Amino acid sequence: MKQLIVTGSNGLIGSEIVAYFHNRGWQIAGADNNMRRDFFGEKGDTRWNQHRLEATYANFKHHELDIRDRQAVLNFVEAVKPDLIVHAAAQPSHDLAARRPFDDFDVNAGGTLNLLEATRRFSPEAVFVHMSTNKVYGDRPNTIALTELDTRWDYADATYANGVNETMNIDQCTHSIFGVGKVAADVMVQEYGRYFGMKTCCLRGGCLTGPNHSGVELHGFLSYLIRCNVEEIEYSIYGYKGKQVRDNIHSFDVARCIELFYEHPQSAAVFNLGGGRGNSISILEAFDRVAQLTGKPMRYRYVDQPRVGDHIVYISDLSAVRAALPGWDISKNLDVIFDEIVASWQARQPLAL
Ligand SMILES: NC(=O)c1ccc[n+]([C@@H]2O[C@H](COP(=O)([O-])OP(=O)(O)OC[C@H]3O[C@@H](n4cnc5c(N)ncnc54)[C@H](O)[C@@H]3O)[C@@H](O)[C@H]2O)c1
Repeated sequence: MKQLIVTGSNGLIGSEIVAYFHNRGWQIAGADNNMRRDFFGEKGDTRWNQHRLEATYANFKHHELDIRDRQAVLNFVEAVKPDLIVHAAAQPSHDLAARRPFDDFDVNAGGTLNLLEATRRFSPEAVFVHMSTNKVYGDRPNTIALTELDTRWDYADATYANGVNETMNIDQCTHSIFGVGKVAADVMVQEYGRYFGMKTCCLRGGCLTGPNHSGVELHGFLSYLIRCNVEEIEYSIYGYKGKQVRDNIHSFDVARCIELFYEHPQSAAVFNLGGGRGNSISILEAFDRVAQLTGKPMRYRYVDQPRVGDHIVYISDLSAVRAALPGWDISKNLDVIFDEIVASWQARQPLAL
């Protein structure tokens, strides 16, 4: 049986990876310490998802592991000897990082190095997939000329008609403290590919989403927006008239991409991975869509101050990942994504209140 290590297995991406690979016959060791609760409070608690995985997937085993604990990570990887590592544990919030820079960097940069080095020592042939982020580009995407439409901003420069590709400079711009830690991790993952010849991949995520996100204001764009509508919580828009655009990819399509990379690995691969133009949506457009589904109007306030380093429009150019991994494409469009997230919050609502 093939062995998979998933870090951040209680989270959105980690839990999807567990389900996806379990259904394909893998043995799975999940590592998570529910630090999302520490970062975001009770509403960020991920234990419900851990318990769901433990109850559903017989070949899944949860390990209460803090990826900052270097020796524990070395022991863990040595014991499992994985064929594939999907590293999805993180402090994931752009905004929170400024309040907790040590924790942010220790988890996101230090934790990634711990896992890479453990993999090099004990499973050097393994495929290592790291969940990176479009925040490695800092606020440079905001230098692309824009045009203002009724409900969204869009790129005015035809060069970016398909979105941002992997050649965008990551240097000399504002990243947020979070973005810098993720750059360090991303470049280190590439380096273990280049320097040591390991099979590594950085997936620079747009907005990753799905029904198993514990969405909170500081992280999980669509999940939190939909939660606000379902639970009738006031949503705060920060700047850009609510016309800022995100591209949303279902966690299932992330899992499919990782499976194909495992089958066709490279060293030091880097791909932008979001929903692309087809799954892009602005905040105002998302308000309309969710209100139509639930019949509830969106309650919101407008704060005339954008978040530091926030993207105005971010659409991932998916050309490189499509070319490298034939057969991969977006399989879940925005209709499916909205339906699933609404249903999930409606089912969870009594527990959350
Ligand atoms: N969700 C998005 O929109 C998005 C976008 C781009 C990139 N990403 C990246 O994808 C990855 C997964 O994101 P997600 O949305 O699934 O996040 P998530 O918060 O849902 O899951 C992350 C998990 O990591 C765990 N964790 C945190 N610190 C830990 C530690 N020290 N040791 C062990 N576990 C720890 C948390 O408890 C949580 O369950 C992250 O690296 C994130 O930066 C996410």
